[in-house]
Amino acid sequence: MNLIKVNNYEELSQKASEIIIKKIQDNPSFNLGLATGSTPEGMYRKLVEDHQNGGTSYKNVKTFNLDEYVGIPEDDPNSYHYFMNQHLLGHIDIEKSNTHIPNGNQMSDLQRECEEYEKLIDQSGGIDLQVLGLGVNGHVGFNEPGTPFESPTHIVELTQDTREANARFFNSLEEVPTHAVTMGISTIMKSKEIILLVSGAQKAHALSRLLNGEITEECPVTVLGKHPNVTIIADRAALGEE
Ligand code: GLP
Repeated sequence: MNLIKVNNYEELSQKASEIIIKKIQDNPSFNLGLATGSTPEGMYRKLVEDHQNGGTSYKNVKTFNLDEYVGIPEDDPNSYHYFMNQHLLGHIDIEKSNTHIPNGNQMSDLQRECEEYEKLIDQSGGIDLQVLGLGVNGHVGFNEPGTPFESPTHIVELTQDTREANARFFNSLEEVPTHAVTMGISTIMKSKEIILLVSGAQKAHALSRLLNGEITEECPVTVLGKHPNVTIIADRAALGEE
């Protein structure tokens, strides 16, 4: 694993955006895996600025998002569809048909939706670079502690910890969905390359388990220790240095 230490969130966002821009400039038909949450927001802002001022084009890029809540309409401000549109997809020249986010509203057959999402990624040639954030409890995407490492895209029941951590975006804890659809650990591990973005002291424990600990399903992010091409961008607070 390659660890890039940065001083703060601004530098993390800058570094992450530089890596992605370079990849897209080198290979305009890139398959990019994307994440939601507060952590990648700054990186998305910089990608949009670069698109508007520097002209990097996403015309032939395909995106695949990690996860989506179950039962929240796409136009609801708390859906990950809405988030992606607000922070990135609505501001770049990507073809809508090239953007993919699991559909958490396929209520009649969510299991089938999961299988089709997995197939879609494979048939598109796989993900070239997957961006990941990190949950306080070590989750990646919505793969909660205890998720088998072999899991493909699946439906997950969110832990109380995760619902509480994400309640800040909702009016109340009760409004936070109980379930989500997420790429599985095996889906994420099939990506050719991964960048993990970690910012803030509340992530320090989970990050230290990845950097120093054993690889265990009890802390999903530790699986990255088995991947051949991972870059971690972490700020001082996440590294426990401030
Ligand atoms: C959510 C997302 C994850 C994300 C995590 C951390 O639960 N499903 O993909 O990495 O939150 O979010 P944040 O970056 O806001 O701390």
